[in-house]
Amino acid sequence: MLDDRPEPITASHDPDRRLYDEFEPIGPGSLAGRYLKNFWQPVYRSKDLKAGAAKPLRVFAQDFTIYRGRTGNAQVLAARCPHRGTRLSTGRVEGDSIRCFYHGWKFAPSGACVDQPAEDANFKSAVCVKSYPTREYLGLVFVYFGEGEPPPLQRLKIFEDESAYLHVKATPRGCSYFSQLENGVDEVHINFVHAVSSFADVGFTRDIPEVVTRETDYGIERAARRGNQLRVGHCLLPNVLFTSVVDPIASWMQHIAWRTPIEDEKSTSFIVDQVRLSGDALKRFIDAEEEAEAKLAGLPSPDTVGRAILRGEMSLDDVQDRPDLITIQDVVALAGQEGMIRHRDMLGRSDRSVALLRRVWARELRLLAEGKPIKRWAWPEDICVRTETVA
Ligand code: FES
Ligand SMILES: [Fe+2]
Repeated sequence: MLDDRPEPITASHDPDRRLYDEFEPIGPGSLAGRYLKNFWQPVYRSKDLKAGAAKPLRVFAQDFTIYRGRTGNAQVLAARCPHRGTRLSTGRVEGDSIRCFYHGWKFAPSGACVDQPAEDANFKSAVCVKSYPTREYLGLVFVYFGEGEPPPLQRLKIFEDESAYLHVKATPRGCSYFSQLENGVDEVHINFVHAVSSFADVGFTRDIPEVVTRETDYGIERAARRGNQLRVGHCLLPNVLFTSVVDPIASWMQHIAWRTPIEDEKSTSFIVDQVRLSGDALKRFIDAEEEAEAKLAGLPSPDTVGRAILRGEMSLDDVQDRPDLITIQDVVALAGQEGMIRHRDMLGRSDRSVALLRRVWARELRLLAEGKPIKRWAWPEDICVRTETVA
């Protein structure tokens, strides 16, 4: 669908605003793709990658290979074998290395070719495959796709608290990572998109929030005041939401979500929720999650439902009893934005966080395009989401 909106009369005064249209393309050579590759990105849920398994991996509109060695190390390599180009993901894992399915060339995690059964012994020293720094943290596999030495993988101490349970999810979405990122800092959408939801059940959609936001060393601090409740959450730049969400069993949970780009208009949210329950209560939470997953396995995906709603074939009223109603609600709003030209938006006072996110991102893309140093975001290890009662 064409974006038929006119240039807004109340356009943002941001001189970089034309760069807003560069946020979504993330393929090779794109500005946003180049920018995001300066930071570690989660690409897989650890528990989904068994020892000895190799899988194709799609991220940044590019193909890669991910595998887990027999000793437990996860590694990401290029997609194709350098010999005659077949997919390394169909190969066999041997120790911490992977052997190509086609003619048996074997590659170490470093990418070095360590065996070529049908070749002269001195050939392999001239052969390697690209290898990407790969680490695991909080139940996720992180990869550094950039050039040179990777920066340190940033830690978040609150999620390392061993007395809490971490609920780790990977949710694919048919919309861009940037729309997801903006939606995460958009407090006001909760009152409307999620007017029927667990947020409504706890009275969270009663008052329109007052939004205050500022740039920090780690990204964006965003405070939302509803009545006498002030919730202070964060956007850990470049592409992470850190907020709190409510669950019927676990109550309020610290919630962190990386928005990893897959294609220009596809992304995966890698989510870690901190569940402060133990014993029977924790078991009830895990059982309820498993039950919801089993129920959802037999149903069309949130994207399928959301797009049927956008085509006018269904309505949100038809899916009120689904456990992923909140996701479907977001899909309807975000997939509905597909094809929109971002700089034509008419942002108001309630969009302060979205406006700041765009300004900061556009500034960083401009710096990158000009070959100047970009801001190195420093996430404080002890950062968390807090709620205060105010007068
Ligand atoms: S294509 Fe991989 S060994 Fe031949
Ligand atoms: Fe939402």
